[in-house]
Amino acid sequence: MEAALRITNCRVMTPQGVIRGGLAIDKGKIVAIATDAGLPSAHESIDGGGRHLLPGVIDGHVHFREPGLTHKEDFETGSRAAARGGVTTVLDMPNTLPPVETADILRDKASLLAQRSLVDYGLIAVVTDRNLDRIPELAGAGAIAYKIFLGPTTGDLPSPDDGQIVEALGKIAPTGLPIGVHAENPQIIAAATARLKLLGRTDPKAHAEARPALAEAESIQRMILFAQASGARLHIFHMSSKEGVELVRRGKADGVNVTAETCPHYLILTAEDMARLGPTTKINPPLRGPEDIEALWAGIHDGTVDFVATDHAPHTAEEKTHPLIWENASGASSVQFFLPLMLEQVARGCLTLADLARVTAEAPARMYGLYGRKGAIAVGSDADLTLVDLDRRDTVRAADMENKVRLTPFEGTE
Ligand code: DOR
Ligand code: ZN
Repeated sequence: MEAALRITNCRVMTPQGVIRGGLAIDKGKIVAIATDAGLPSAHESIDGGGRHLLPGVIDGHVHFREPGLTHKEDFETGSRAAARGGVTTVLDMPNTLPPVETADILRDKASLLAQRSLVDYGLIAVVTDRNLDRIPELAGAGAIAYKIFLGPTTGDLPSPDDGQIVEALGKIAPTGLPIGVHAENPQIIAAATARLKLLGRTDPKAHAEARPALAEAESIQRMILFAQASGARLHIFHMSSKEGVELVRRGKADGVNVTAETCPHYLILTAEDMARLGPTTKINPPLRGPEDIEALWAGIHDGTVDFVATDHAPHTAEEKTHPLIWENASGASSVQFFLPLMLEQVARGCLTLADLARVTAEAPARMYGLYGRKGAIAVGSDADLTLVDLDRRDTVRAADMENKVRLTPFEGTE
């Protein structure tokens, strides 16, 4: 048999460990993994140059802004940045215009993206205070997960109240799809914001103080309780705090079906960096402290934090540079730098390369029901691959971004 493509001379990261050799690909699937000599012949061949071949990176959390917000990003620019950064699958968030609230809107979005994305993608649907009766049809139309925004953020989608959330989880549980939450309590945020504004605060760090860890912890605790009662699969998006890690760890120990993700910015930057770096660091939930970074790493190591995703959330330069922090848009663009930033954590000794493959591919694939097709280098899986050169040093430069807006809080990071 002649395969379409073979990639030789690699260190191949498989679930069983690293193999010296390569793999063969046919019809988009991996058909063989072997030493170079053991591979079938192929129409085309790529020499991996002794580099590491990783399972294609999955970014489980991006906002590519289609439809309706394409002045910030679109699927072509977003997916090009993803591909250039080694990301082969993205899961796209529903706070677009219109928001992904009905099966029709989801289908329209899917047909808008078909043939245009450079990477594979899944679409997440939103549950608001007005679409509880649409929950089953969204699963039927192909949503990969549901999302609830508990706190205010881009798009200001109306949150369901607690009664509606309990009803919603009851409808979501039988679909088998996960329900991810943006976990921040809006009342705690509103009170803290009002106090800081009265004090005349307009500096970047005021944003972090306005959204304390308690707001995240309260939402996570409440959602864990609701998930336990309903049997729905709960996922905590972009978890930022030590308190969050502790609650998810306890929830898992209690047998609750809960997973969590964190983001590179919560592992690398703190609220103290906000004054220096300015409003590119305004993100919801906000950057926190060194104890939170330590707790998130511990959570990654013991499996409490299942995976890492970017929460790639672009805005225009104008929206991101307003001198008053309250007027700035929240979110940072990181999809292109996701893997390099995580590889730097490997170089620093925070993460092994096997752990990196787990938190950027295997675990998100498992959570979103993609494992077997994606998330591991295995015969029969999609040939989603990322070849990395661990000896190469590079520096994050906004000017290199493929995104519509070239702005990153990681400018100058090696
Ligand atoms: O900072 C954020 N920006 N956090 C979110 O949860 C939403 C996102 C956006 O869509 O801009
Ligand atoms: Zn997000």
